[in-house]
Amino acid sequence: MNPEHFQIAIDGPVAAGKGTVSRLVAERLNFLYVDTGAMYRVTAYLSLQHNIPFTDIPAIVELLKKTDIQMHNPSPEEADGRLTTVLVNGEDVSWKIRTEAVGNGAAKVAQIKEVREILVEKQQVIASSQNVVMEGRDITYRVLPNAQLKIYLTGKDFVRANRRHLQLQSRGNDVNFEEVYLDLKERDNLDMTREADPLKIVSDAWVLDTSDFTINQVVDMIVSKAKVMMSA
Ligand code: DC
Repeated sequence: MNPEHFQIAIDGPVAAGKGTVSRLVAERLNFLYVDTGAMYRVTAYLSLQHNIPFTDIPAIVELLKKTDIQMHNPSPEEADGRLTTVLVNGEDVSWKIRTEAVGNGAAKVAQIKEVREILVEKQQVIASSQNVVMEGRDITYRVLPNAQLKIYLTGKDFVRANRRHLQLQSRGNDVNFEEVYLDLKERDNLDMTREADPLKIVSDAWVLDTSDFTINQVVDMIVSKAKVMMSA
């Protein structure tokens, strides 16, 4: 059965361009952009802040249950390069969750089944009341299995590592390419081999390799397709 609102579900590996592409598609269509990775990052951020080891599942679950997570498209005053604004109990953590330490922690808490259950439910509630572009690793088959448009956004390993390298450098991070490449391969491996909802390509997904396209070309392709589907 088709959902009441239009849902664009995007999955894909790290640095495929999911965030930037999803944000721009959402802007063009006037949809809400939902970065689900941010929620796993918030979970890791909270655990680090409260000195809870990533292995202490009951403590992480308890903390998560009493935490209010809000996300919205950045307002004009918040436009500082962020793709989304993330509030945790009212505190703006949009940038605090973007560190390498939080990213590594997010990959760990994302393996906890109980954490996934809580976050998936939050994501489904968000998508039940408005049109969304939602991106992550399990959106096309777990969070929004009935989405009207499903996309697996990917790119060649070298191209993705190069993008990630440039992104880190632009944020003042002096890391070498090989380190970034190996880290990316390791994250891919973690995402694709974990027991709880691994990253995978579903049969009804449109597989879009972004290696040879500009961001704008990719956005145009997705917006055109969504418009055709919405007017059908
Ligand atoms: O996209 P990202 O780097 O912000 O994601 C952070 C981590 O969360 C990453 O290890 C993958 C994981 N994740 C997930 O397991 N499921 C999602 N729907 C989104 C992200």
